[in-house]
Amino acid sequence: MGIVFKEETEQFYLSTVHTSYIIELLAGKIPLHAYWGKRLDDMPPLISWGGVAESRLPICDVNCPPPFQSSNSLPLEFPVYGTGDMREPAFCVLYENGSRVTVLEYCEHKIYTGKPHLPGLPSSYSEDGDVQTLEIVLADHVTGLCVTLSYSVFENKDVITRSVRVKNNGAGTVRIEKLASASFDSYDADFDVLHLHGDWAREFHIERRPVQYGVMHFDSKCGKSGHLANPAAAVLERNADETVGDVYGFGLIYSGNFDISVEKNSLGSVRTMIGINSFDFSWKLKHGESFQSPEAVLVYSDSGLGTMSRRFHSFYRENLCRGIYKNKERPVLINNWEATYFDFTESRLLDIAKAAKQIGIDMFVLDDGWFGKRNSADSSLGDWFCNYKKLPDGLAGLGKKLSDVGLKFGIWMEPEMISPDSDLYRNHPDWCIHINGRNRNLSRNQLILDLSRQDVCDYITDTVSGILSAENISYVKWDMNRCFSDIGSALLPADRQRELPHRYVLGLYSILEELTLRFPYVLFENCSSGGGRYDPGMLYYMPQTWCSDDSDALERMYIQYGASLFYPASTMGAHVSVCPNHQVGRTTPLKMRGDAALLGVLGYEIDLSCSSRQELELMAQQISFYKKYRNVTARGDMYRLCSPFKESFAAWQFISDDSETVLLFTFVLNGRPAEVPKRVTLQALELKEYYVNENDNRRYSGEFLMNVGLTYRRDEDYISNITVLKKC
Ligand code: GLA
Repeated sequence: MGIVFKEETEQFYLSTVHTSYIIELLAGKIPLHAYWGKRLDDMPPLISWGGVAESRLPICDVNCPPPFQSSNSLPLEFPVYGTGDMREPAFCVLYENGSRVTVLEYCEHKIYTGKPHLPGLPSSYSEDGDVQTLEIVLADHVTGLCVTLSYSVFENKDVITRSVRVKNNGAGTVRIEKLASASFDSYDADFDVLHLHGDWAREFHIERRPVQYGVMHFDSKCGKSGHLANPAAAVLERNADETVGDVYGFGLIYSGNFDISVEKNSLGSVRTMIGINSFDFSWKLKHGESFQSPEAVLVYSDSGLGTMSRRFHSFYRENLCRGIYKNKERPVLINNWEATYFDFTESRLLDIAKAAKQIGIDMFVLDDGWFGKRNSADSSLGDWFCNYKKLPDGLAGLGKKLSDVGLKFGIWMEPEMISPDSDLYRNHPDWCIHINGRNRNLSRNQLILDLSRQDVCDYITDTVSGILSAENISYVKWDMNRCFSDIGSALLPADRQRELPHRYVLGLYSILEELTLRFPYVLFENCSSGGGRYDPGMLYYMPQTWCSDDSDALERMYIQYGASLFYPASTMGAHVSVCPNHQVGRTTPLKMRGDAALLGVLGYEIDLSCSSRQELELMAQQISFYKKYRNVTARGDMYRLCSPFKESFAAWQFISDDSETVLLFTFVLNGRPAEVPKRVTLQALELKEYYVNENDNRRYSGEFLMNVGLTYRRDEDYISNITVLKKC
């Protein structure tokens, strides 16, 4: 049983195969966070062993029954502003009378098998019924506000998800000023926090730092989840690393402004919260209305970051991604962006396509520049009609010619955007996010369509549907190339303007829900200037993401390593591009570029019609290797062995789900003369089994590979290897 309520102790046990999460009602009223960690089927009530608070100094005793001396030391399951807890609250509301104080007390709970979809939001699901849900209903008896805390337990996945629904049962209107999806109070922690930061072409860099007194925020205020931070983080024991230590991982199934906060207070408690960013957010809730928070994903591991990552990976792959491409092998694609940019003709594209077919590529993706009069990034977004000067027979004609070559056809679109120089803008100048009377600040020469408006969402759904129905297109690269500014909507009343960022995300999700329903056979790839919106919310609609505009193999080591903390290889679009690399000017061997791209979903972004015969042969080998082993990287378990953030060497290992095949990827970032070879020890093999190295037929025992390992040269820059080991 995933969820049990023990009446005598008023404790809820949320159990997965290896973990437990325990909530306890204080005096039958206030939900406390009692425990999250290794599986534990019985614990005395906090109040009886007093370990939580007795030794703590009193600061404020508001609403705090003995033996707890201070609300400020209580491990609260859902901390609310205003009654004595001085830490960051998960919830704050403004009432009509100006009060911001809410007192939430337990009313009832419900435990059931299954899990409902969250209205209007992407959310996790289970196809095999191995999920149970607990709903704890809390109410404020003075104001009539009702809050439901939902917990879903994915027993076999070792994952718990949380979300919160607020309902206004009071007479007046309230404004939600803050609502976190999950809050976790830990009371004896000496933690580090690990989060992902970055920028354009430099996504997913890892930073780990001690949790010290005060509050840290890792957030986005740019309208999308963004390049600068990611809605994912972990708090972990100081000694935790890839294979040992307690790690508490958090993810948010959301693509807009988010906030992760980690706070250590004077009493040593550490509170970690994740949810919609309260900055520039408020939501008006009239009598009878409800508001649903996005869903947070919680993963505990007692064996370091590696286990945490594998739990996130399998959960996102199987309980979040949807559609036929969830498990289906993805096409190897050639994308013309770095090959031609805007400067292409149909015959140039077909030359690339023919060469692509020769080496085993499955799909041609036509990137930016095929519509309106777009020959640079300064016009035509919104005018999604074909440019017949470039494509004389239209998209349909090109699609037909590609099909004759033997390739599927995909296109790039940026449907959420509008160029001031477009017919769409000339006809609907108020359709963009803007503030009347103020300058409309451009970024990449474009403005953002106001997706809080139903008419705008309908226009996007209809336009994209029109193209997909008419043109036999099997893939869309869905791009979004700027951050929000001048945030205002022509339709929202003044007192709802701060709802715009969240309404935008809801509008986007409604469009994607409709399009994925109408076109289930289309593979959507998520992009936002690379990985600027690579988040679990988008994964629900699009099973893969172009994870960075930086296609340099060395930069990709950092980007893909960082992304792999939370996101599986099956979601990472990775392309081989030309050298010197267009982003950093570096020249790396084609072999390394291929090996780096084989760590994700393989594609090429190169003018193959100019590639040498030798290069084409090597690419053909890469593609055939990929097709042979892609299920190992896409569905197997991943182990990070050597971090490029710690040394000039990176190594990853994948084990197929039948445990028969092991792939070991190694990369030298910066070679040094006379450097001793690097010894790489593998993980999670069967000690007494033997494995044969397919490259040289040598046999090794599992215990040798795990204790002694294989050695790799590192006396030269950019040496890369993929070692294939088969159980024998
Ligand atoms: C963004 C994407 C690129 C490319 C360009 C086209 O920058 O990340 O891959 O599609 O847009 O304008």
